Amino acid sequence: MPSDLPLIDSFDLAAALHVLRPSEYTAALIQTLFGMPGAVRGANALEIGFGSGVVLAALSHLGAASLCGVDSEEQAIRTAEAMMEQIGGVAEFHRGDLWAPVDGRRFDLIVANLPHFPTEQRHFPGRLPSWSHGGHDGRQLLDPFIAGLPGHLAPSGRALITHNAFLGLAETRRQLALGGLDAQICRTVMLALPPEKLRVMSPDIRAREEGRTIHTLGAYCFARMYILDISARPAER
Ligand SMILES: C[S@@+](CC[C@H](N)C(=O)[O-])C[C@H]1O[C@@H](n2cnc3c(N)ncnc32)[C@H](O)[C@@H]1O
Repeated sequence: MPSDLPLIDSFDLAAALHVLRPSEYTAALIQTLFGMPGAVRGANALEIGFGSGVVLAALSHLGAASLCGVDSEEQAIRTAEAMMEQIGGVAEFHRGDLWAPVDGRRFDLIVANLPHFPTEQRHFPGRLPSWSHGGHDGRQLLDPFIAGLPGHLAPSGRALITHNAFLGLAETRRQLALGGLDAQICRTVMLALPPEKLRVMSPDIRAREEGRTIHTLGAYCFARMYILDISARPAER
């Protein structure tokens, strides 16, 4: 290309697909959705933090009536647009912070695999800084997500989210109850914690959870993760 022409589009889809590649959390969330097609079919669905758009693709495949996604990264928007084009799906994408782009709107089904790893460190090799970083206790995005959930779920709506067990399910349930919601564990997965994550995990959380939700076996370490199914508490339904 002649050097005096402006660089109109430097987006590298192959690189973005790699950086935003699905994780074991993504796979567990998709497996859960495939196990409950009736909850997805016909639903107006929202995903907060859609990354590559692969969970939205699963929702499309399962017959959601409409798809909306919010992500803070421009790369995610471009990648998910390509994903939708590839599968022949339709979705509305917003770049922004958590609930801000969908203020005042309610959805039948809300899904999220938020960054919620307890660490002060933002840099993980091969990922964007916004991928895993959950702040010291891991709850930096989870707590405002929970606070906004009651105002965005339709009556009889439900949310499915990934939740590291070592963040404290009791605290999540306490916060959900403030908004009239409750969580059921619908899937439990044991994940291998990779060394690059273990090295930067908040040490007090690791010490508190060792032998409870985290298990070290020789040189390797495993942790429990839940898929939570969140809806109105029985009395409020
Ligand atoms: C762990 S990744 C999950 C991506 C995708 N849902 C998946 O499971 O493969 C978390 C996603 O949340 C996005 N994210 C981080 N902070 C955000 C924020 N404040 N508001 C919206 N999205 C955010 C990241 O860009 C990233 O795509």
